[in-house]
Amino acid sequence: MGTNEIGYSAADVVGLLEGLSTTRAIRRYVDEPVPEGVLRDIMFAATRAPSGSNRQPFRFLVLTDSAVAQQAKALIAVGAQKMWAQKRISDGYDAGTGIHTDSPKSRMANVMQEYVDNFSRVPVLVLACLVRYREPTPSEGASVYPACQNILLAARALGYGGVLTGFQGFAETELRTLLNIPDDTALAGAITLGRPVGHHGPVRRLPMNQLIYGDEWGTSPLWAIDPPGTAVMARRTNGENPTINKK
Ligand SMILES: Cc1cc2nc3c(=O)[nH]c(=O)nc-3n(C[C@H](O)[C@H](O)[C@H](O)COP(=O)(O)O)c2cc1C
Repeated sequence: MGTNEIGYSAADVVGLLEGLSTTRAIRRYVDEPVPEGVLRDIMFAATRAPSGSNRQPFRFLVLTDSAVAQQAKALIAVGAQKMWAQKRISDGYDAGTGIHTDSPKSRMANVMQEYVDNFSRVPVLVLACLVRYREPTPSEGASVYPACQNILLAARALGYGGVLTGFQGFAETELRTLLNIPDDTALAGAITLGRPVGHHGPVRRLPMNQLIYGDEWGTSPLWAIDPPGTAVMARRTNGENPTINKK
């Protein structure tokens, strides 16, 4: 595999606009490691992200197959499984259209179940962290989440995929101890990565004219029209998730 002018793997053939509109949340992974060269390219993209005043307060703990990595994944897996067991019931994933195995709701439930059941075996777990230099503010995440999205976009470009989760919150105390994370550092997210089982594809979102306003709140400009063929989603009802990836 060759490299392009800035040293990325030559496998990057997805255009930027196509890539960002076809980067799905990938929760099912082929059981194989992500090569270090690919991890390097993905994490390089993370380090290119913008941040307030270019302070670059983001730090990333990349956990693959060491004993510590396996412990970290296992700690999160337990919490994620408990959370999903409750959410599956409280959000009614097995009721209504969920009783039909081919419904979006049922497919989402299956993917989530498989995801949490196999969480301890995800090829890569990235803990996105934020080193604080002042008291927490509501907008501080804006200096770490663009980097998280860069990780997902770079993974997509290189034939991999992943998803940002808040699952680190289920084991934060234990993770801090295990990984020596300082007290002044926030754990902002847990990203899992690997080669997708299944595939990326157009994401489904609300139509532009429901999300983009012009000079007045609630009124969409005439130009705010999705490109022809865009997959749009209906407003969500309780527990429904029409964004589920097709297998
Ligand atoms: C802030 C944030 C938090 C998220 N938390 C979780 C999570 O805890 N677990 C999970 O499986 N997915 C999580 N996701 C992924 C979303 O569920 C996913 O992006 C969304 O359903 C759209 O899916 P799509 O990108 O495949 O269309 C999160 C995404 C964001 C941006």
